[in-house]
Amino acid sequence: MANDREKEAAARASLQFIKDGQVVGLGTGSTAAYFIQLLGEQVKNGLRIRGIPSSDRSREQAAALGIPLTTLDECQMIDVTVDGADEVDPQLRLIKGGGGALLREKIVASATKQLVIVADASKRVPVLGRFPLPVEVIKFAQALVVKEIEALGAEVGVRLRADGKPFLTDENNHILDCQFGQIPDADGLARQFSDMPGVVEHGLFIGMARVVLIANGDEVSELRAQRYKA
Ligand code: A5P
Repeated sequence: MANDREKEAAARASLQFIKDGQVVGLGTGSTAAYFIQLLGEQVKNGLRIRGIPSSDRSREQAAALGIPLTTLDECQMIDVTVDGADEVDPQLRLIKGGGGALLREKIVASATKQLVIVADASKRVPVLGRFPLPVEVIKFAQALVVKEIEALGAEVGVRLRADGKPFLTDENNHILDCQFGQIPDADGLARQFSDMPGVVEHGLFIGMARVVLIANGDEVSELRAQRYKA
């Protein structure tokens, strides 16, 4: 698929940010999986890094490839993290969490000096919100939080697995997929979620991405956050 080729091209371009001796955050999702695969090849060729995975899935993939791993318990500073995104706007604000790993992804991103996002061209949007915003919620508070988010104007659905049971995150919480349509004030909405008891984390990543690598066909464009432009 064209998207897969673009995902791999973006992931390959991100390797230039990885240097010997670094601690590397490993994202989650199909694009991040290409990155982990390519990183594994580099490790086999002698690159010395330690990875901190953002999900059980990514940890399993990295371990199978022989990538040395560490944890936030051992190391609280990550040099560079490479992760995917569901949407990227012109200010490099992101929606993440389509793969259900937004909580650990945000924790890993927050401990990272250089967050590099890799994505295919379909992820670039003028305004966030076409993709339903994932919100991780404590089960005890779910009904209450659904009501509050609906009052903000979204259609809210509990994410389900193929067997019809609620999807469980690595931290054993549920995900609410919130369809807002366009989100004109992403910063304001992020603050509202932060003030909502029962919400563990939301999928708006604001002011976190430093570099975004977007593949369009075989070409990869590098977008830099305003404050990091050379
Ligand atoms: C995982 O929870 C997500 O944040 C992913 O990074 C995001 O959904 C992008 O996934 P793909 O690379 O599979 O499109």
